[in-house]
Amino acid sequence: MEIEYINLPIIDFEEKGKLSFMETGKDIPFEIKRIYYIYDIEELNIKRGYHAHKTLKQVIFCLNGNFTLELDNGLEKEEIFLDKPNKGVLIDSNIWHNMKNFSKNVVIMVVASDYYDENDYIRNYNEFIEYINKKNNARGIVGVKTLD
Ligand code: TYD
Repeated sequence: MEIEYINLPIIDFEEKGKLSFMETGKDIPFEIKRIYYIYDIEELNIKRGYHAHKTLKQVIFCLNGNFTLELDNGLEKEEIFLDKPNKGVLIDSNIWHNMKNFSKNVVIMVVASDYYDENDYIRNYNEFIEYINKKNNARGIVGVKTLD
């Protein structure tokens, strides 16, 4: 499965710190309409996510600490360790994703292509597989994955 990494520029001021930035259409491959943060995770062994989006595109960054991102396109799964504030990963639409193995004081930032819309979520894994198969059938690709 091909992973699209977004490596933001770093301006290094040495003892004065580093500066990274992102610009819509340049570093981020969509217009940013929403930004949200995940932080203050007390139970570090929990898993978050367990959903896919029908149309939303997102780029996820780990601003502090580290965690593991799981991506699943219905065919293949990938685990990505994120621990650098300038290294983002594109979570495209139709990708089932989870976050796990959080470090203490982890701060996760997500930039998203649209406003929050619960109707854009697929929160059931079997529904996700059915949705992917239907899309692929429409494109002439058959038999992506059968349900358990
Ligand atoms: P959710 O995307 O399911 O979080 P996660 O994948 O990290 O577990 O969102 C959890 C709740 O937060 C959901 O019920 C709605 C709310 N929410 C908003 O109101 N706005 C937002 O931008 C986001 C991301 C979530």
